[in-house]
Amino acid sequence: MRTVICPGSFDPITNGHLDIIERSSLLFDKVIVTVMFNPSKKNSFCFSPEERAALIKRCTSHLENVEVRVADGLLAEYAKECGAVAVVKGLRALSDFEYEFQQAQLNKKLNGDLETIFINTRSENMYLSSSVVKQICELGGDISDFVPEAVRDDIVKRITRGAEK
Ligand code: PNS
Repeated sequence: MRTVICPGSFDPITNGHLDIIERSSLLFDKVIVTVMFNPSKKNSFCFSPEERAALIKRCTSHLENVEVRVADGLLAEYAKECGAVAVVKGLRALSDFEYEFQQAQLNKKLNGDLETIFINTRSENMYLSSSVVKQICELGGDISDFVPEAVRDDIVKRITRGAEK
């Protein structure tokens, strides 16, 4: 039984995230998608961790081996608790690499049994991020091509309401 974790902020989930989750679910027996805290993004969240997990659940209900959770603390410790053999992260352009490489090294230091596996983002998602989606939406743009349809309206509602304040 090969369990992996797809961790992230997911504020909110994008087509890029969903693609990585779907491809992970084909490669591994069980995928635990986990909303975790990224201290470098504090104060910029639009959705609570539980709301983010609920959005992810709605987009992944067709994937039988995918579970969605929220977790605190260190990813390396959490992976041990889950019995996960690896962390899976999507890798976009070169700009992601330095940060992700550092995270992978730290996680390996903290949990020597934990591997980090990078899945290359599809070229159509190379430019995509949750913050770009939020910005487009705040400025009245159409995010239909960037987020799963099942959650688009909820994202638009939340972000446009926030932008009116
Ligand atoms: O989607 P993101 O923001 O790139 O995800 C980053 C995340 C949440 C996976 C990362 O910040 C994380 O692992 N947070 C948990 C705390 C931790 O273990 N940090 C790494 C060791 S310094």
